[in-house]
Amino acid sequence: MGSETPGAGNGAAAVQARYPRTVALADGREVTLRLMTREDVEAVLAFAKSLDPDELLYLRVNITEPGVVERWAHYIETGRTETVLALDGDTVAGEASLLHNRTSWTRHLGEIRLQVAPPHRRLGVARLLTDEVEWIARTLSLRMLTARMTLDQTAAQGFFRQIGYQREAVLWDYVMTADGKTRNLLVATKRL
Ligand SMILES: CC(C)(COP(=O)(O)OP(=O)(O)OC[C@H]1O[C@@H](n2cnc3c(N)ncnc32)[C@H](O)[C@@H]1OP(=O)(O)O)[C@@H](O)C(=O)NCCC(=O)NCCS
Repeated sequence: MGSETPGAGNGAAAVQARYPRTVALADGREVTLRLMTREDVEAVLAFAKSLDPDELLYLRVNITEPGVVERWAHYIETGRTETVLALDGDTVAGEASLLHNRTSWTRHLGEIRLQVAPPHRRLGVARLLTDEVEWIARTLSLRMLTARMTLDQTAAQGFFRQIGYQREAVLWDYVMTADGKTRNLLVATKRL
């Protein structure tokens, strides 16, 4: 029988203490890593709107809508989501979120959500952000991470495979686009 998963304990304080940090990208540019707060809602909305809508299909919610990002900020405040932003000056270059629920049968799991702005891709931003999410997940005593992506998201599939995720399932026709076409959703996991 599995042992009990501890709650956040001092983990939440350790997570807060880790940020902000400045790190160098592959091209020498520097980004600041820090936790998202409610004050970032406008910047995150602008970031989400700059992404190709097709790249957001794997999400359960539409993060280009103000109400959705407001609710996201609420989940951060209530400890159900941790979001690490990579900021290039005042611009959001990427974000990675850890979604979890400490009071359910899946309290040992976290779900990772990740996106990087096109001008900042292939510079190691995703790698930096996923390292942070894994550190946070371990600090919060989570045991497994899940990632979702559509089968069209080949960059994401290559990336997650490279960092140790394995394919668990494909949910056929699981996602529907605005014009009513369906896409297949891949679920991958990584044990921590
Ligand atoms: C997938 C994504 C997050 C990668 O972000 P990124 O910052 O460009 O990734 P990194 O620079 O850290 O890449 C690390 C490695 O992943 C692999 N990789 C990343 N993008 C790739 C691509 N387009 N094609 C093939 N491999 C790729 C490479 O091995 C890369 O290492 P390299 O550049 O030294 O070859 C980004 O393309 C993205 O935001 N896509 C849209 C949203 C999405 O798919 N999110 C994932 C669902 S959770």
